Formats: sequence, C-alpha cells, structure tokens
Amino acid sequence: MSAQLLLALETSCDESAVAILRDPGKGAAPELLSSLISSQIDLHRAYGGVVPEVASRNHALKLRPLVERALTEAGLRASEIDAFAATRGPGLASSLLVGHNMAKALAVAARKPFLSINHMEGHLLSSFLDSDVLHSASQIPPHLALIVSGGHTMLVDARSLGDYALIGRTIDDAAGEAFDKVGRLLGLPYPGGPEIEKHARKGDPTAYKFPRSMPRELNFSFSGLKTAVRYALPKVVDLDAELSNLCASFQQAVIDVLVDKSLRASSKTGAKLITLSGGVSCNSALRTALQQACESHGLQFLACPIRFSTDNAAMIAFAGLLRFRQGFRSDFTEDIDPNLVLCEPHP
Ligand code: KG4
Ligand code: ZN
Repeated sequence: MSAQLLLALETSCDESAVAILRDPGKGAAPELLSSLISSQIDLHRAYGGVVPEVASRNHALKLRPLVERALTEAGLRASEIDAFAATRGPGLASSLLVGHNMAKALAVAARKPFLSINHMEGHLLSSFLDSDVLHSASQIPPHLALIVSGGHTMLVDARSLGDYALIGRTIDDAAGEAFDKVGRLLGLPYPGGPEIEKHARKGDPTAYKFPRSMPRELNFSFSGLKTAVRYALPKVVDLDAELSNLCASFQQAVIDVLVDKSLRASSKTGAKLITLSGGVSCNSALRTALQQACESHGLQFLACPIRFSTDNAAMIAFAGLLRFRQGFRSDFTEDIDPNLVLCEPHP
C-alpha cells in the first residue's frame, strides 16, 4: 500500500480543529503532519458554558483559515489529500454542521472519499495515537475503555475496531460535567476540570467526606456528589482557605468511583488492558490512580496522550484512517447526528 493522506475536521463543541495524518503503510506508524486547534473557551467563559450560536459562528469563521494553515504546515495542497473526515456526532448540531459540511465540500472538490466519524470512537481510539501497539495493523487489541469527557462517562468493552459494547454509563451527569458544575459552585472559571485539578494539588483529599455513589451494575452517578458539595459550602467559614481541600476531596471522590468501576468492568469482560481517554483524562491524579490500580491487579494501562485528551482533530483523523483502511466510506448524503451513540449495551 502506498502512503495515504487524510485530513480531518472536528467541530462538535467549542474547539475548531484540523489535523492531517500521513499513513506511510508498510508497517510504519502514522505521522501527524499537522494538528491545529482554535479554542473558543475565552469567548464562552463569560457565559459560564458553551453558547451554541456563538460556537457555530466561530467555527464558520475559523475553520477555513485553519484548514489552509494545516495544509501549509504539512506542505500539501488539498488535491493531494486522499480522504476527508469530519465528526458526525455526538455534539451540538449547529457546530457539527460546520465541520461536516466543510469536509464534504473539500472531498467533492478534490473528488476524494468522505468519512463521517463518531466523536466517541475518536476519543476511544485516541489512547493508541502515540502507541506502537497499532502501527500498520488495522486491528486494536481487545480492551476495556474508560471514556470520560464533558458529555459522556462510558465503560466500553472494545473487542476489535468497530466492535464495541456499552457496559457502563452515567445515569445523570458526566464526570467532566460534574467537574464543571462543582467548579461553578466554587466560583472557579469555566471549564472547572483543569481549575479543580490545579487547586486540588495543594489540598487534602480526606478533608471532606463526600459520597462515592455506586449505582447498580457498572453505571455511574455524579449528581449526588455535586449536591454534597453544594450542602457543604454554607458550613465553610473561609472558602478561600478551604478551596484546595474542597477541590481535592471532590476530585478524589470522582477518581475512586472511576477506578473502582473500571476494575470491576475489566474483571467482568476479562480485559487485560484498560484505556483512558476524553477530556477528564487530562487529570493527572486520575491517570496515576488508574495506572497504579492496573499495576496492582496485573493489568496493562494505556492513557490517551494528554495533548489529545480534550477535543482535537488528530483523534478524528486517526479513527478515520483506521476505518479507511478497513474500507469504510461515507455517502455525501450522510447527515450529522447530535445524539449519535457509539454502541449499544451487550444484548
Ligand atoms: O473531551 P472534551 O474536550 O469534550 C467533550 O467531548 O465533552 O472534555 C471536556 C471536559 C470538560 O468537562 C473539562 O472540565 C474536563 O474535560 N477536563 C478536566 C480536566 N481537563 C479537562 N477534568 C478534570 N481534570 C482536568 N485536568
Ligand atoms: Zn470530546
């Protein structure tokens, strides 16, 4: 197989992102020629969360110059790209439409295939982006994937590329959403996750006894934890002095539940490898805790490289490339799907 070039766009929420990936073939690892992200976080911070119309208008403004910069950085013309990928869902409809339509337009103009990619599959596969586990093999090893983002908390039994079963999910807030909501309660800027982690480093994780909610089976629930933080706040005399302890105690409660359920899930499916991805996987305390738990249970652990943890187009390009190798192509009539699911539960 000769080298293949794939350009991917990601606009599911508030990051406009473009990546170009080169697959050298012949057993060599794919090479990321460009990965650009234009973050809108500063624009949305004033509102305490993402405003869909502001997000889509910015994608429309930012995406074309970003594609041109990525091509320049890679030393390529659009006509040299072999396939164009974009995120189909899940995400905000008005944001998804911008990237999905632009990738279609680029593919039509270059007379090349279009690949419509599931954002959650991008997160799931991102754990393998820097790993030599894959290289030219189109197959991923069977594993248990913990995906923790702003919109999702999922445990996936990943048996091979495209063969996934959902074995655990949140029944209320996602882990990242809990970080963001508790961040708001504590008066921290959006998004709360990185802010809470920063303060937690200086705090005592045992200072407050927050609940470890363990709903049935392998599901998660984080809304009770958020409420526990809310009830604890009026009793705090000096919030500035207690901020680090509150952050550390909340973060530890989230981590304990994520680690416990991941271990249970892997023993249920028999997986020997646990992967961690999604925006919350930036959290170094979570990475360390899951890594140590895996080591003490004789399991392998692979975390998504931090630079690909939050939304980016490299993970969409990578998922697109693995699918492309499998022969996957999308029709130009393919529509976005804001509620797209990655997989269903085991029958
Ligand atoms: O994957 P992502 O970029 O977007 C979605 O697909 O949702 O995840 C964003 C989420 C936000 O909720 C953010 O607060 C959280 O990831 N996050 C973190 C950290 N960095 C980002 N949560 C905890 N600790 C972090 N260091
Ligand atoms: Zn995401």
